[in-house]
Amino acid sequence: MIDESEQTSQTETQVVPAWYAIAASSAVVRRKPIGVKRFGEAFVLWRADDGRAVCMPDRCSHRSAALSVGKLRDGCLECPYHGLRFDPCGRCVLIPANGVGAPVPPGFDLPTISLREEHGIVWFWRGAGEPARRVPWIAGASEPGIGSAEYWYALNVPYLRIVENLLDFHHFPILHRTMLPGIGSRMDEMDAHVEDGVVAFSATMRYEKPGALKQDTPIKARFALPSLALIDFGGFHVNYFLTPIDERRCWIYARYRSPRIGGLLGTAAGKLAARYDRAIFILQDRHALLSQVDPPGDFSKFKFYPADRALALFFGMRKQAILEAHRRASTNASDAAAAAG
Ligand code: FES
Ligand SMILES: [Fe+2]
Repeated sequence: MIDESEQTSQTETQVVPAWYAIAASSAVVRRKPIGVKRFGEAFVLWRADDGRAVCMPDRCSHRSAALSVGKLRDGCLECPYHGLRFDPCGRCVLIPANGVGAPVPPGFDLPTISLREEHGIVWFWRGAGEPARRVPWIAGASEPGIGSAEYWYALNVPYLRIVENLLDFHHFPILHRTMLPGIGSRMDEMDAHVEDGVVAFSATMRYEKPGALKQDTPIKARFALPSLALIDFGGFHVNYFLTPIDERRCWIYARYRSPRIGGLLGTAAGKLAARYDRAIFILQDRHALLSQVDPPGDFSKFKFYPADRALALFFGMRKQAILEAHRRASTNASDAAAAAG
């Protein structure tokens, strides 16, 4: 059984300070802006003429129209209501009603949100402290391109509830017995440990009585903070990147690559697998997840057994990262107070 000390009480909704995936690079185009909601805030994303991804609050400084339904003109984002234009640095460069060339009074500029764009993903920083130099990544995760398929969608399930679900494979032969048949329910040769800040999990799922159609199913997975997963299952390497939309919804970006089928066929197979995966989430996982009565991430009343070990380890790491961030924030605050005093 799992040591009680590995079970974490996670009633907090604090954020692990990290770069979070905000959008797929392929979704941020030069043709038009897109609107996204993350961590309860609305953002507009667009691509400047030099190819840089730009992110701003999705709210015009004039009278708060959504900029995400505006247009890109002359390298600027134009508000759809009265046509104010904002350059990639957030400067308001034109108020049409004042006339072209008229100086823009102060107060109309918008803040820009700093981004990173790596591995085919646009990332933005959330949480206290200075942004980390590197975006989170799991060694061996798939890069975009021919042979891999990307897919993203919003799910009406709280973020941490889905993180819990991703770390759990022993529900497959039970909850998904119809959509993922042929998986035994006994977790054998199971290992879960933390290695270089990543939870590494492996197991063989076995039938109690093997038969011609009752073969072993090996599974391997790695999980990294804040909410990245790399799962080897069913002939695919699947990466997940999760970001909260708000308290009740989660944005899921997934990338699929089949090591056996390359090229365009691999991409097509990945797209099919992605759609099927989403259908499984919506038709089966979602109902179970929404039926759970305790708050997401609160393990104080759960009872764990060995197959839950990866979940316990990951949420332990998450708790440590949040405590560490709080510690750093209070040290900085007392240093600042000492310097001021
Ligand atoms: S609300 Fe944007 S220009 Fe008026
Ligand atoms: Fe599931």
